[in-house]
Amino acid sequence: MSGDNDGDVTAQLNARGDVAVVVPAAGAGVRLGPGAPKALRLLDGEPLLVHAIRRTASAPSVRMIVVAAPPADVDAVHALLSPVAPVVVVAGGAERQDSVAAALAVVPDDIGIVLVHDAARCLAPADLFERVAAAVREGADAVIPALPVVDTIKEVSADGTVLGTVDRSVLRAVQTPQGFRAPVLRAAHAAAADLHTDDAGAVEKLGRSVVCVPGSDFALKITRPLDLAVATHLLTLSS
Ligand code: C5P
Repeated sequence: MSGDNDGDVTAQLNARGDVAVVVPAAGAGVRLGPGAPKALRLLDGEPLLVHAIRRTASAPSVRMIVVAAPPADVDAVHALLSPVAPVVVVAGGAERQDSVAAALAVVPDDIGIVLVHDAARCLAPADLFERVAAAVREGADAVIPALPVVDTIKEVSADGTVLGTVDRSVLRAVQTPQGFRAPVLRAAHAAAADLHTDDAGAVEKLGRSVVCVPGSDFALKITRPLDLAVATHLLTLSS
C-alpha cells in the first residue's frame, strides 16, 4: 500500500466529507488492444486514471480516494496521482471484485458512504458522484446511475438464432459510480461467492434493494478503441 498521511495534502479533499471512493483500476484492458493496463492508457495525453481521479476529487463530499492498481504499478500509480489528488493506492487482484475488496479494506469505519467507480469511466462528472451519494444519504442501501436502453435488445441462442425480443422499457444500462452504505457493501463482499460484474449485483444477492438515479452520457465505459475516440470528443465538451 502506498498513501499519504500528510495533513497538508489531505486538505485537498473535504476532511468533513462522508464519502470514500474506491476506484478499481487494475484491469489489463485487453479489449482496447495490446499496450499498458487500461487505466494507464492515454486520453488527450493523460492516463484515463488521471482524468478519473481529477473528477472524483472535485466532488465536494469526497473525503478519501482509494485506487486499486496493477500490483507491479502501485508505486508508479501513486507517483502519477499525487500531483492530482491525495490518494491511497493498493494492489488490485485477479478479478475486479478482488480489486474492489482490497481497496474497501483500507476505508475506515467512520466513513459512512462508499462509492465504487471504474477508472474506465474516466469522464464521469462530479455532479454524478454527488447525485449518487445524496441518494445514499437520503436512506438507500445501494444506488446505481442508470440510463435507458436505446437499442432493440434480442435474446439469441448460441448459434445466433433469435429467441425473442426483450421489452427494453424495463431495462437500464448501469454505470459507475455506484454508491452504498458502507456496512452493506462490506457485507455484500463478504458474502459474495460468485463473480459479479458490478457491486450492486452483490448487494442484490443479499436481498437488499438497489435504486437508480439518472446516469450521465459522460460516464461511458472506455472498453474498445472507438470509445477512446468518443471520449476524446467528449473532453472538448466537458471541463
Ligand atoms: O474489464 P472491465 O472494463 O470490466 O473493468 C472495469 C474496471 O475494473 C476497470 O477500471 C478495471 O481497471 C478494473 N479492474 C480491476 N481489477 C481487475 C479487473 C478489472 O481493478 N482484476
